[in-house]
Amino acid sequence: MSKLRVGVIFGGRSGEHEVSLMSARSVVSALNPQKYEIFLIGITKDGGWVFNDQAARMLGSADLNQPAISSLTVEPDQFPLLPDPNINTRYFDVIFPVLHGPHGEDGTIQGMLELADLPYVGAGVLGSAVAMDKGLMRTVLAQAGLPLLKWETVIRSRWEADPEPILALIETEIDYPCFVKPANLGSSVGITKATNRQQLTASINYACEFDRRVVVEQALTAPREIECSVLGNDDPEASILGEIVPGSEFYDYEDKYINNKSQLIIPADLTADQEQAIRDYAVKTFKAVDCAGMARVDFFVTAEGQIYVNEINTIPGFTQISMYPKLWEASGLQYSDLLDRLIELALERHQDKRRRRISINS
Ligand SMILES: Nc1ncnc2c1ncn2[C@@H]1O[C@H](COP(=O)(O)OP(=O)(O)O)[C@@H](O)[C@H]1O
Ligand SMILES: [Mg+2]
Repeated sequence: MSKLRVGVIFGGRSGEHEVSLMSARSVVSALNPQKYEIFLIGITKDGGWVFNDQAARMLGSADLNQPAISSLTVEPDQFPLLPDPNINTRYFDVIFPVLHGPHGEDGTIQGMLELADLPYVGAGVLGSAVAMDKGLMRTVLAQAGLPLLKWETVIRSRWEADPEPILALIETEIDYPCFVKPANLGSSVGITKATNRQQLTASINYACEFDRRVVVEQALTAPREIECSVLGNDDPEASILGEIVPGSEFYDYEDKYINNKSQLIIPADLTADQEQAIRDYAVKTFKAVDCAGMARVDFFVTAEGQIYVNEINTIPGFTQISMYPKLWEASGLQYSDLLDRLIELALERHQDKRRRRISINS
């Protein structure tokens, strides 16, 4: 049987560029060399695409111990994600985007892969875009009956034109303390907590530097942070649960990627009822945003046992020690088997989409 040609895309024009490189290093080194031929596709911080040696340098693939890395034989002026018109064939059988945040996890690259008619791992355009926007995601999840904290979405131009009614609305509907978050970022970038009007104003101004949409949400005091991995397409499964114990007041950027102070506890210590409820909510969240392949759904649990969905990440951190693969490992699915399954799901979904009728005459 010939090997599947897998293109792994990493890097990206995003604040999570380095995180993506870490995830991609793990993915590339764990792909089974008996099954796959691997092609490295890097996106630089300023948005340039690099292949072959340049991509390998970006990833540091010399240290990877992966014999299945191959080079593309494309002309310098060709863009290999598109089919070669001369031979009417594709360079890749499947693409594995290992990109976090804007331009990677938000449906943009997924749209390009749809246009190229390539199977790819993970959520499609719609699921990615909805899951990425903390405002729209909440609207969709609330409609599906999932438990959420009170929130309001603020549009930057309206805030700048007239902040007073927005402050008043937040004070009556949400009150202090509250969290202020740019709608379309990850890794806790631009997120602050406000306990009075002056701080709220500063927090909204700050979040507006990162995005034109901002979410303000009721803050919990030191909630437990519980995460669940979901895997599948239309009929997804939930893993056992994990808990993050942040090293600082909240799980911020430093804590996630720099100081390594936060702890992962697997399995999370919860009652059987809580665990069942959270796993059901995770699957329901996945379905509500029309996700595919994989997602990590994050929850808050209060001291009183109240459960809230915080967010869904469609391309969760993917290093060997990241929560998403760790939870599957604890559920009996090893890292490289998980990669096989994700690739299968990508191919299945592509097949399923091909059933779509594109003509009304035939
Ligand atoms: N409403 C909230 N109440 C308490 N803590 C929160 C709240 N929202 C966010 N946090 C804290 O901030 C962290 C980052 O927020 P989150 O919405 O998950 O953004 P990101 O997409 O950047 O991970 C959370 O992991 C949690 O520690
Ligand atoms: Mg988060």
